Amino acid sequence: MSLESFLSTLDELEQEALAAFDAASDAGALEESRVRFLGAKKGALKDVQKQMGGIDPSDRKAAGMRLNEFKSKVQAAFETSQSILGGGGEAGIDPSFDATLPGIQPNIGHIHPITQTINHLMEIMGRMGFEAAEGPEVEDPWHNFVALNIPEDHPARDPLDNFYLATASATSDRAIEGEQLLRSQTSTVQIRVMERRQPPIRVISLGRVYRPDDPDATHFPMFHQMEGLYVDEHVTMANLKTVLRVFATNYLGGDVQIRFRPSFFPFTEPSVEVDFLWNDQWIEFGGAGMVDPAVFEAVGYDPETVSGFAFGLGVERLCMRRHGITDIRDLYSGDLRFLRQF
Ligand code: PHE
Repeated sequence: MSLESFLSTLDELEQEALAAFDAASDAGALEESRVRFLGAKKGALKDVQKQMGGIDPSDRKAAGMRLNEFKSKVQAAFETSQSILGGGGEAGIDPSFDATLPGIQPNIGHIHPITQTINHLMEIMGRMGFEAAEGPEVEDPWHNFVALNIPEDHPARDPLDNFYLATASATSDRAIEGEQLLRSQTSTVQIRVMERRQPPIRVISLGRVYRPDDPDATHFPMFHQMEGLYVDEHVTMANLKTVLRVFATNYLGGDVQIRFRPSFFPFTEPSVEVDFLWNDQWIEFGGAGMVDPAVFEAVGYDPETVSGFAFGLGVERLCMRRHGITDIRDLYSGDLRFLRQF
């Protein structure tokens, strides 16, 4: 058979098939046409495929390409007619389907209260010029401890107080340099930001931290912190107090009073615990202080020319106070009756 007559046979057949699918008025007629043109055992497609064998080998490529085009066009035309005739394929519309029954209401999700809180905190701090920074949740001891002035023998590095990741080299019960752990604080991000940027710096970092605490109403082995870092020349504790007070007033509402209690963190000097007066009660929301010169040295800043403050607040604590949530575990239970309230 010549290529020309093969091609014209296909042209004709294609016209016929498209017309037949178009004309089918019900699923039965459509199925008949399908078998006639596209049937796997016999049918027009099968016949033309056989004719391919008689074509001059040098023309076979062109013939094959046209045949493929024919197949996909005719198949597409069949599917179009099928969907127009009710989509039910050979059986048509499922007779047990009652279109008059009320539908099933879809479950529409929404943003988790902690994520809502994070977005809200970023928005408030953003208005004061703090941009969001991120760091990894799997950290190395340099960023979680060493650069933060937490030495090798410090109790904060105890394996019992941290989630170290198992490595082949973790043979001793003491943390090994080079090991990794789930970060226990977002202060790691202070280091990561200062390592790659020069002052002035005004960032917050909101993210998960991990500590092996037994869950109860106020503890959970994973929770969130909002870390703040402000580094420039002449930054003072008065700046810290103002930023935190403006923040608390915006987030908790009313004119929130703030109280600093002397404390200790290896990476700030002086260090304080931060309390807000809320519903006539002083409540601790986190820690803060002036960035310790040793931290500046670790990241290559000159402590003689720059100064800064840092703070770390508990995101769950803020969210729980604002919304009157009394058990942190509710936030992570996945219980929709709880979550739907937000
Ligand atoms: N990282 C400290 C904590 O988790 C909080 C803190 C952050 C304290 C920044 C001082 C400065 O307890």
